[in-house]
Amino acid sequence: TPQYLSARVVEQERMAQDTYRLRLECPEVAQVILPGQFFMVREPGVNDPLLGRPFALYDTCLDENGTAIGLDFGYVVVGKLTSRMTHWQPGDRVEIWGPLGNGFPYPGSGSLVMVAGGIGQTPFLATARQALGLRKYGQPEQTLSALPERVSLLYGARSKEYLAGLDDFQLEGLDVSVATDDGSYGHQGFVTELLQQQIESDSPPATVFCCGPEPMMEAVSRITSQAGISCWLSLETPMACGFGACFSCVAKVRISDDEWDYRRTCVEGPVFNAESLIF
Ligand code: FES
Repeated sequence: TPQYLSARVVEQERMAQDTYRLRLECPEVAQVILPGQFFMVREPGVNDPLLGRPFALYDTCLDENGTAIGLDFGYVVVGKLTSRMTHWQPGDRVEIWGPLGNGFPYPGSGSLVMVAGGIGQTPFLATARQALGLRKYGQPEQTLSALPERVSLLYGARSKEYLAGLDDFQLEGLDVSVATDDGSYGHQGFVTELLQQQIESDSPPATVFCCGPEPMMEAVSRITSQAGISCWLSLETPMACGFGACFSCVAKVRISDDEWDYRRTCVEGPVFNAESLIF
């Protein structure tokens, strides 16, 4: 059964339309969590929902000595818990359990392209900082043996109002390209069109990480498979328990040429090799 820890709300900020960022003080989780992992958050004394909800790490925050003491995560207001979360104030105590899941693999030395749709950008701030050698994560702190020669973020959203955290992604060495459905910011069209352009450019990606709505991830999986590019998807499957007991979070995974099985996103994921997933 999960061991929830008490965490203090440090601050809350509106990032975009219906989208907020919360910062919790929780050194126990902040010092061990890796990019691409997630945690469950719940409100003490509230029985609906009884179990927490999963949120991906946006980034850790450090004290003046460089020790990770806090966690930032982004959320979109979609239900009861997230509606209540918008009222959480600095100093409030909430409950957190993590880190959970597997996180992204190490990208290697070739170019890394991260493809995000909507709130699917949240795993990529910590991932980018790690890939650029700007921050270490985990305990003992993990140093990548080779940094990717180039790191890019391709970020798609419905419109300008829904773009969250563009300022945060202004990192030294990170190329950011944006696509919006209505053309109110960046390229008008799908983020997958930006990916296709990168693949056809002089410096195609060696590795693609992707997180976003399922149709987008399916398209990214198809594009990278055709191009022979290694691709990892972080699934946003709804979860109930978060600890492998309820099977509400399963994904279909190919285990051989003619066999498939279910895998639990909360335990065996949320990051899967795109080649292994059956949509
Ligand atoms: Fe219950 Fe994954 S959320 S098994």
